[in-house]
Amino acid sequence: MEMKSDERTEDFARLRKQYGDVFHLKLGLSEFVVINGAKALHELIVKQADALSDRPEFMHKTSGGNGIGAASGDRWKEQRSFALRTLRGFGFGKRSLENQIMDEVNVFIKEIEKFEESPFDISHLLSISVSNIICSIVFGKRFGHDDVKFLHIIKLIHAGLSRTNFLMVGMTKMLQYLPGDITGVKAARERRRMITEFLEEQVREHRETFDKENIRDYIDAFILEQQSHSTPESFYSDEQLIETIRNFFSAGTDTTATTLKWAILYLIKNPRIQEKMFEEIKSEIGDSVSPSMEHKQRLPYCEAVIAETQRLGNIAPLSLPHAVKYDVTWNGYVIPKGSTLILNLTSVCMDPDIFPEPNEFKPERFINKDGHFEGQNKFSPFSIDLGHSGEINNWGVVRNIAAEGVANIAAEGVANIAAERVANFERLKSA
Ligand code: HEM
Repeated sequence: MEMKSDERTEDFARLRKQYGDVFHLKLGLSEFVVINGAKALHELIVKQADALSDRPEFMHKTSGGNGIGAASGDRWKEQRSFALRTLRGFGFGKRSLENQIMDEVNVFIKEIEKFEESPFDISHLLSISVSNIICSIVFGKRFGHDDVKFLHIIKLIHAGLSRTNFLMVGMTKMLQYLPGDITGVKAARERRRMITEFLEEQVREHRETFDKENIRDYIDAFILEQQSHSTPESFYSDEQLIETIRNFFSAGTDTTATTLKWAILYLIKNPRIQEKMFEEIKSEIGDSVSPSMEHKQRLPYCEAVIAETQRLGNIAPLSLPHAVKYDVTWNGYVIPKGSTLILNLTSVCMDPDIFPEPNEFKPERFINKDGHFEGQNKFSPFSIDLGHSGEINNWGVVRNIAAEGVANIAAEGVANIAAERVANFERLKSA
């Protein structure tokens, strides 16, 4: 079996044909169970959430189980609930964050304009802009596009996600002890150390200027909780804080930036779709104001473009691994305690029975006969709802910790890029 990520989902599709929706793999010393298809994912991950929301042990290794993304059990429940409450308090997923998002979108467009007609790589610009929105909540500040130290951290985060083969690490733990660095784990440790230094510096600055009467951001909120409500059973340690904010950056920056990158690519390749978004924005809200969340209901086609981007972009095809807390029975089979679960989200996003011609970019599939946006609950780019991902909202709409906020960022980003394209179009017409 291929362990390269782009070929792995094809292997899973082949094995699914042969062995069914749920099959077991023994790779190295580890037991994996791969779950495919909307039905099995729903029956297992949603209905048996309590048994299936932990993280496998190999994910605890570097973080010591701290943070949210790699945490399990009581720590995970307490810290995830604090994180959701606090992020929402600072406007995540709410209109109150909108001004910051709009400011960032404007800076982003200005940065692009600097290139005039020259070609440029948009990835880096997108990562900085998205990351700055997270920075505004976590650190209470944003960084300039020319801040060398910050740019370096963004690069490290990006490399962390794209260059380490975590499945391979989990599968064959011994590989990391061989000479060289075939799994990328050694380089990842070094990147991790540098990111930790940066985060520790931010926390140190916050402690020095902390004022409990003026809670500026996530770090302050955590310090306050640590000082006032922490009990011996709770998990408000300094390590927990560093890991959690690391999670926000690593889980939040590249995911959102990559989604926006797909959106831009699909729009470049489909000028007719771009035109339709433009027409919708122009007829519903005009071109004197920027599209914002308050206009969302009136822009079903723009919403459909975002949903279709998330479906086809499919940027987290195997979600994150889950662990089995106790034996679980499904269709007469036992999934044993201790197994690692792989959630094959591609099997839903690309299912031709749910999405005919799945390789085609067709936003119309999310528009119902009355012209309304509909059907995002057929899949979820944020994994399956429940525990590890967030609030339950029927099958598949996984509200991971960030889904709402991301929807805002992505929606405003895409709509504003479309609107900017509108402005250019108008300029061209009048020239
Ligand atoms: C389009 C953007 C995004 C996508 C597609 C995405 C996708 C995912 C997926 C698939 C998971 C694993 C869920 C599971 O284990 O079942 C996850 C977890 C997580 N994401 Fe995102 N994510 C996005 C943006 C963000 C953002 C902006 C943040 C910033 C706060 C974030 C923070 C997290 C955290 C903290 C977790 C771990 C949650 C837990 O283990 O309980 N994500 N995300």
